[in-house]
Amino acid sequence: MGDELVKTYIDGFDDKMQGGIPAGSVVLLVGQPGTMKSSVAYNILFNNARENGTKGLYVTLEQGAKSLSNHMTKMGMSPKDVVDRLEIVDIGLIRKKLTALADQSWVQVFKMYTKNLKETNDYQLLVIDSLPVLNVLAKFDNPREELFHLFEWLRDLNVTTFLITEMTPDTPKFALHGEDFLADGIIYLRMAEIGDISVQRQIRCVKMRSANHNGDYHSLLFDGGRFKATRSIAQSR
Ligand SMILES: Nc1ncnc2c1ncn2[C@@H]1O[C@H](COP(=O)(O)OP(=O)(O)OP(=O)(O)O)[C@@H](O)[C@H]1O
Ligand SMILES: [Mg+2]
Repeated sequence: MGDELVKTYIDGFDDKMQGGIPAGSVVLLVGQPGTMKSSVAYNILFNNARENGTKGLYVTLEQGAKSLSNHMTKMGMSPKDVVDRLEIVDIGLIRKKLTALADQSWVQVFKMYTKNLKETNDYQLLVIDSLPVLNVLAKFDNPREELFHLFEWLRDLNVTTFLITEMTPDTPKFALHGEDFLADGIIYLRMAEIGDISVQRQIRCVKMRSANHNGDYHSLLFDGGRFKATRSIAQSR
């Protein structure tokens, strides 16, 4: 990992990690359903493409590319504003369309595409949305070992990777197969209950190798097409 930092463009959050995420990291973006995991990940690619021309690749395995792109357009982050710098690839669709690939595992198709696109397009940022799908569909015999190899493979790709993983409600664990130990960083998104009736979106940097990060919970706000993290004042339960 070099000295370069990748900004999340979540106002008030980058400075909690000494300026951003060390380039080359593999970062888990963990949260329960609906905690804005996809939006936060896409926001990182979108704003890096728009603000400093950094190229990004968003690999979707779960939500269709069209649905994702519609959702982001509604949120004020249209892929049309960053053409040639942000590509969304729907691996599920590709595999369905190309019958020649039908007997290949998802990991194989994923690796083939990301590697090819790295060579032709030289993107610097990669999002995988999401890992459990990759995990289940690839029918790993030994998930822990396969994951170790996948993480090493991603590091060799020479990009900064954001791996979205879903947390099952009611478990305090960030990962089921040791992804949390393998990852260089973990960003956790949650809906916190405030008192008896309110909930608040929150974000916290659980871990970031080679950065002296602040691990507190911050309120996560989305307004006017931008994310913002502010000090959590309300006391959650
Ligand atoms: N303009 C907006 N401002 C604030 N919140 C929004 C806006 N548009 C959608 N949302 C919220 O974003 C959430 C969905 O975001 P997103 O798809 O990024 O979450 P996710 O964690 O990836 O969800 P999933 O678990 O379905 O993959 C919805 O719960 C919705 O309430
Ligand atoms: Mg999502």
